[in-house]
Amino acid sequence: MRTRVRVPALALVVVGVCVSMVAHARTSVVSAARLLDVRSGRYVQQPQIEIVDGRISRIGRAGDPLPAGAEHIDLGARTLLPGLIDMHVHLTIDPTLGGYQGLEYTDNFWTVVGVVNARRTLRAGFTTVRNLGSAGFDDVALKQAIEAGYIDGPRIVPATFAIGATGGHCDGGGLPPSVTVPNPGAADGPDAIRATVRKLRKFGAEVIKFCGTGGVMSKGTTLGEQQYSQEEMQALVEEAHRLGMKVAVHAHGSSGINAAIRAGTDTIEHASLADAESFKLARAQGTWFSMDIYGSDYILAEGENNGLFAESLQKERQVGRKQRETFRDAHAAGVRMVFGSDAGVYPHGDNARQFGKMVEWGMTPLQAIRAATLDAAEALGRQTDVGALEVGRFGDMLAVDGDPLQDVAVLTRPAAVVKGGRLLQP
Ligand code: ARG
Repeated sequence: MRTRVRVPALALVVVGVCVSMVAHARTSVVSAARLLDVRSGRYVQQPQIEIVDGRISRIGRAGDPLPAGAEHIDLGARTLLPGLIDMHVHLTIDPTLGGYQGLEYTDNFWTVVGVVNARRTLRAGFTTVRNLGSAGFDDVALKQAIEAGYIDGPRIVPATFAIGATGGHCDGGGLPPSVTVPNPGAADGPDAIRATVRKLRKFGAEVIKFCGTGGVMSKGTTLGEQQYSQEEMQALVEEAHRLGMKVAVHAHGSSGINAAIRAGTDTIEHASLADAESFKLARAQGTWFSMDIYGSDYILAEGENNGLFAESLQKERQVGRKQRETFRDAHAAGVRMVFGSDAGVYPHGDNARQFGKMVEWGMTPLQAIRAATLDAAEALGRQTDVGALEVGRFGDMLAVDGDPLQDVAVLTRPAAVVKGGRLLQP
């Protein structure tokens, strides 16, 4: 008797699950005048992109019948591009709070700042970002809140804390010895570094960021100084790779850059003073450069108002132009490049301003766009879900007016952004 009752009940549950799965498949169709195929560099006319449950299922042409129940997002005369990828942001940093001003705010304040910046970043057409360093695991919190639908934002690849040597670029600085700020990212020596990689991963890191040299914003460091030994870098990269994570290094000076490349680091952030040896090593190893060549304009214009340390402004004056020359030379030497803005150093949402600089300093518009799409996806190891409008990848895209292959600046003014097949409301 019991069995008889149970069997139909179970069958009902199974049927119910199937029905609800079908009912919940969300289909949308995006159409526009044309689509930039970033792989071929050509425009596809009158595309009609079908997206089922967030992923592209078919790319047809205008006039093809719409699937039953699909929402039609008609973007008219505009040009579609794959959602952009910024390989280096700090969503929880506000550029206007320079120097010691951050000390006036409570710890969770920065997560709230991140909520606003995540929204701005997505509306600027950046549908995927790597967050390369933040305190309190707040990039993991943002990622979780975005994925659960509480807030709008890009897909986030979080690094959590940046790992670095005691007193280095990633370890505060400027406070007296009696004031200690806990920093789970500070680690010295191969064993401590390995343990830190494991710990950050345990709490949500999906990429490891470390500081290989001094930096502009940190107090008491120089751009040239190497802050981890070759042995330390090797231990870090080996551990991260063994756990399936890519490694990004903050490095301005050439000795730190070259040691990081030799250690097998995947992306060199800043790369300001890279030399011919760096280019040779990077080409041999397939290392990507991620050069933030817009930021300098903002820092030099606004840094003083924003209360940056005098030392930071001084360092920026020395490195800004030099970094752009290095970008030009590295690109000419055949070093592979991805788009990394370091937004947070300049306002979130203005990320795309860097495209213009990349073209000014030697790239074609298509090369600059690939650096933020196809190539960035490859550097992330995410060729299957982001970086191109192709079947199987996420339905992430932006629509612009004008021709981005003629004037890359049109990317700074997206007319519409779609993430996972959903049109973002302004
Ligand atoms: N976070 C970097 C640092 O402190 C910012 C460098 C910005 N300047 C530049 N020229 N890209 O070193």
